[in-house]
Amino acid sequence: MTTAEELAAIAVEVARGAADHVRTRRAELIDDVSSAFRSDAVTTKSTPTDPVTIVDTETEELIRRELARLRPDDDVLGEEDGGSVDVPDGVRWVVDPIDGTVNFLHGVPAYSVSVAAQVGGESVAGAVVDVARGMVYRAHRGGGAWLEAGGGTDPVRLRATPVESVSMALVATGFSYQADRRAAQGALIAALLPRVQDVRRIGSAALDLCMVAAGMVDAHVEHALNPWDWAAGALVAAEAGAVVRTPAPTSRSADGLPTVAVAPGIADEFLALLEELGGLDPL
Ligand code: IPD
Ligand code: CA
Ligand code: CA
Repeated sequence: MTTAEELAAIAVEVARGAADHVRTRRAELIDDVSSAFRSDAVTTKSTPTDPVTIVDTETEELIRRELARLRPDDDVLGEEDGGSVDVPDGVRWVVDPIDGTVNFLHGVPAYSVSVAAQVGGESVAGAVVDVARGMVYRAHRGGGAWLEAGGGTDPVRLRATPVESVSMALVATGFSYQADRRAAQGALIAALLPRVQDVRRIGSAALDLCMVAAGMVDAHVEHALNPWDWAAGALVAAEAGAVVRTPAPTSRSADGLPTVAVAPGIADEFLALLEELGGLDPL
């Protein structure tokens, strides 16, 4: 049987190759004069504010080709090309070819490739590549969370912050593409804001979760994520010692459930605060 560590090595290899593709294609699809993304390379999905580029599509195809070559018997669930919602008997790869497409389009350097391996609906291995910075976050169950910053440096073991009070917590969050849900999410964040150090909306849930692992933020909370948004990043956060709550593996954004990752020293207090504000209910 393949170990979780071996699955993590595959996740890293596949996600790195995909990130190289994303980087190369962005440069090719930028108009030299306006610096804008070529309009014929972009369409929209669930709402007019939910973009998908040809790079999202190509990159998922590339990831699926690589997984089919390396792991021909496994299932794949991906944002762009779908997959079964049922939890299979064997390994399922859960893939977001670009997490942070709005940033990718606008040139904000916070978008990632996320590749996770799940067994029985639980993430056992995962890799998230911060494309613009060339940094690789990886984890496998029981093996800790690691950051490869590149440039020949050794991987660094990640730990969530030792923060002890929610009032000093920097909290990352994000918003759905549905206008009604956004209004509810905004109201929750407005209620949270006076109770924490500050709030960040970075634009890639996978990176938000890895930033909890890396101690850059103290917590991440977001409703209505899909499994491909959290599958790798939540494992990285958990393996860095964060307390993590994810929706069920079969749950989709439509269910509106929260994903939470929080440094252990403030986990009880933060979860109690969310409960007080209605933030553990579906939005
Ligand atoms: C989105 C990003 C964003 C989050 C949204 C996601 P996409 O993923 O993770 O940070 O707030 O909920 O849908 O669409 O860029 O893959
Ligand atoms: Ca995503
Ligand atoms: Ca995506």
